[in-house]
Amino acid sequence: MSLLRLEGVRKGFQRGREQVLALDGVDLCLDAGDFTALVGPSGSGKSTLLHLAGGLDRPDAGRILLEDRDLSTLSAGERAQLRRRQVGFVFQFFHLIPTLTVSENVELPLVLDGVRSGNGRVGQLLDRVGLSHRADHLPGELSGGEMQRAAIARALVARPRLLLADEPTGNLDSATGAEILDVLCDQVSDDGTALLMVTHDIGAAKRANHVLHLRDGRLAKATARATR
Ligand SMILES: Nc1ncnc2c1ncn2[C@@H]1O[C@H](COP(=O)(O)OP(=O)(O)OP(=O)(O)O)[C@@H](O)[C@H]1O
Ligand SMILES: [Mg+2]
Repeated sequence: MSLLRLEGVRKGFQRGREQVLALDGVDLCLDAGDFTALVGPSGSGKSTLLHLAGGLDRPDAGRILLEDRDLSTLSAGERAQLRRRQVGFVFQFFHLIPTLTVSENVELPLVLDGVRSGNGRVGQLLDRVGLSHRADHLPGELSGGEMQRAAIARALVARPRLLLADEPTGNLDSATGAEILDVLCDQVSDDGTALLMVTHDIGAAKRANHVLHLRDGRLAKATARATR
């Protein structure tokens, strides 16, 4: 059983009178412990694919199965719950809540899910991403790399099986980006999380097990890599 499976996924958007086909029949399988990089030109559908894979949006046609559950059969509430528990999102611009401390930001998914006393888990994750000393700081007091570490800790707090990252190093200098990539790769190898990461960075893509090329909403053949 694959962790994530996309079958014949199509997604269009209406732009004025024009219909834009963002994804045009995408088939994709992701297993636990896989790090898959998704590359392709701007507008090729990478973010759309990530949003659909995480149940943030729905396809016009085709099926998306997360641990063999067809997302289209779930209600909006069930999809929201699945997202909170099974999927972690990491974005280019971090999306931390500016009025909450680092620790509160990381704990938020648990709070929203009604899980009490996530303190131990939050502390453990901040330690893992090297941010314990910033636990009580506000996001505005952090560097870009530190904000992304906090966002990664938040994405991991509910122990998701699938981590979706949309250009997580795109807004960071190359040294900081490499550190963030280390954190993500460690998560894949230590916990067997599946990572699907959109990137424009060839160096980042080289560390993946597989590289998927998206062009005009279609996937080209996957490149398998022997090493991470
Ligand atoms: N909400 C939307 N409404 C209308 N069109 C959209 C919407 N979201 C995406 N699109 C269109 O779908 C296509 C794919 O967009 P998408 O954001 O997935 O590309 P991308 O590969 O992530 O690009 P980038 O590298 O610039 O982030 C583009 O033509 C885009 O304009
Ligand atoms: Mg994008």
